[in-house]
Amino acid sequence: MDAVVVLVLSLSCLLLFSLWRQSSERRKLPPGPTPLPVIGNFFQIDAKNISQSLTNLSKVYGPVFTLYLGRKPTVVLHGYEAVKEALIDHGEEFSGRGSFPMAERTNKGLGIVFSNGRIWKEMRRFSLMTLRNFGMGKRSIEDRVQEEARCLVEELRKTNGSPCDPTFILGCAPCNVICSIVFQNRFDYKDQEFLTFMNILNENVEILSSPWMQICNNFPAMIDYLPGSHRKLLKNFTFAKHYFLAKVIDHQKSLDINNPQDFIDCFLIKMEQEKHNPKTAFTSENLVFSAGDLFAAGTETTSTTLRFSLLLLLKHPEVTAKVQEEIDRVIGRHRSPCMQDRSHMPYTDAVLHEIQRYIDLLPTSLPHTVTCDIKFRNYLIPKGTTVIASLTSVLQDDKEFPNPEKFDPGHFLDENGKFKKSDYFFPFSTGKRICLGEGLARMELFLFLTTILQNFNLKSPVDPKDLDTTAVANGFVSVPPEFQICFIPV
Ligand code: HEM
Ligand SMILES: *[C@@H]1O[C@H](CO)[C@@H](O)[C@H](O)[C@H]1NC(C)=O
Ligand SMILES: *[C@@H]1O[C@H](CO)[C@@H](O)[C@H](O)[C@H]1NC(C)=O
Ligand SMILES: *[C@@H]1O[C@H](CO)[C@@H](O)[C@H](O)[C@H]1NC(C)=O
Repeated sequence: MDAVVVLVLSLSCLLLFSLWRQSSERRKLPPGPTPLPVIGNFFQIDAKNISQSLTNLSKVYGPVFTLYLGRKPTVVLHGYEAVKEALIDHGEEFSGRGSFPMAERTNKGLGIVFSNGRIWKEMRRFSLMTLRNFGMGKRSIEDRVQEEARCLVEELRKTNGSPCDPTFILGCAPCNVICSIVFQNRFDYKDQEFLTFMNILNENVEILSSPWMQICNNFPAMIDYLPGSHRKLLKNFTFAKHYFLAKVIDHQKSLDINNPQDFIDCFLIKMEQEKHNPKTAFTSENLVFSAGDLFAAGTETTSTTLRFSLLLLLKHPEVTAKVQEEIDRVIGRHRSPCMQDRSHMPYTDAVLHEIQRYIDLLPTSLPHTVTCDIKFRNYLIPKGTTVIASLTSVLQDDKEFPNPEKFDPGHFLDENGKFKKSDYFFPFSTGKRICLGEGLARMELFLFLTTILQNFNLKSPVDPKDLDTTAVANGFVSVPPEFQICFIPV
């Protein structure tokens, strides 16, 4: 036989075989739209409204379906039942972190957010303990947040009641809380070192969540061949890493084993205890990346929520008045709010829950992956498949929250005005990967917002009726439209 014929025949066999393998894999995965070669279902997703695209697809394919973003399948979970069954009932199997090729280059599988397996378990457990105040000296986390709330109010006072865009000031406060936890000290909002550091962090998060980066994540081969913002990211990333390393060296010099002051001190002590264990996860590299993760995950999320909260309070003055009435009655004017107050403030608690439900900060959470082959609702999901949970589909469920598109604290109140808990409250996701900073974030939201409303009346330079509260999609984060606000001292 002719060599060319043999070649053509074997190539055809190979092609057929790979098509057959792809379709047999697809047969066992949940249903979904037919993917095109190479680009998959890329054009079936509206990058500006990913969450709505997923809702539309779930109407056709059901609560568990498969999308091809590029060549690889992604399983989407839509609605409370599917999200709960996967992330809670099969928590262990769905606890992997989905791949971010960009983060793989920078973090190399270290830290908390992008790590997996043993490193993730150890870093997560250690960080949770530290954030719960175990072993971090005499100053509690609550002290640190209260201190920052007082500084925040002083800073807002300097605006003299004139209209301002609160983005910058509200960005400083949550960053400073993490500084206080990780480095022991907060910074002045004008401190040059603080401003440089915060800028770099914000830029990294901005680039990482840009639509361009979503493309790089789905087509990783492009990272090396095309110039773009990811190069800036790598450069800025190196700067941040050196900043942390310098802080670690300072801490090593001043460390008192019997009196640790912050996250870095606690980590250094753990490193010392484990120094004879060759397999230890407590290395200075993991310290740097875990600390970096606390900043990356805990700054922008909290400050965007605070900014959105003020916009909603401006838009709904009747809600704000009720919260201020509750603050007057329970806390008064003469002492700082503390966490104990929250249980006596059902209306304020309901407002804070409703804010987080309504703004739906991370509509698709962060991607997960399954840690082993798993049979799920009669489908077979192979180990390593990316899994996306639609938090929007839970937070906007219209049976649990009637008129979900409306901002209404009544979604979290019963008929007697008592706070009503909901199993559908998933702004922090759920299961084994649930936000590590949930407790801290909720503490910051409560203490910052009650301290602001205790000290100021909020005024909008435009008629509240004309304020737009529709979120603008920004990569995978929902951000509020720009607005101006006046802080009028009470
Ligand atoms: C309003 C503020 C916040 C919101 C809405 C939020 C939400 C989330 C969500 C949805 C995830 C992904 C969970 C998943 O993979 O299923 C997450 C992960 C994470 N968050 Fe937050 N977060 C907030 C504040 C914070 C703060 C203040 C910290 C800092 C301590 C923090 C630290 C983390 C970390 C370390 C992870 C990764 C956890 C892991 O992979 O195991 N977050 N957050
Ligand atoms: C979802 O479906 C609605 C109605 O069919 C359509 O108007 C809308 O553009 C779709 N949205 C997206 C993002 O695909
Ligand atoms: C970080 O990136 C910005 C541009 O996005 C650049 O202006 C700045 O110099 C970079 N910083 C470092 C330390 O590389
Ligand atoms: C997404 O689409 C829905 C319905 O079509 C709309 O209500 C919502 O405002 C859109 N969101 C964004 C960010 O464009």
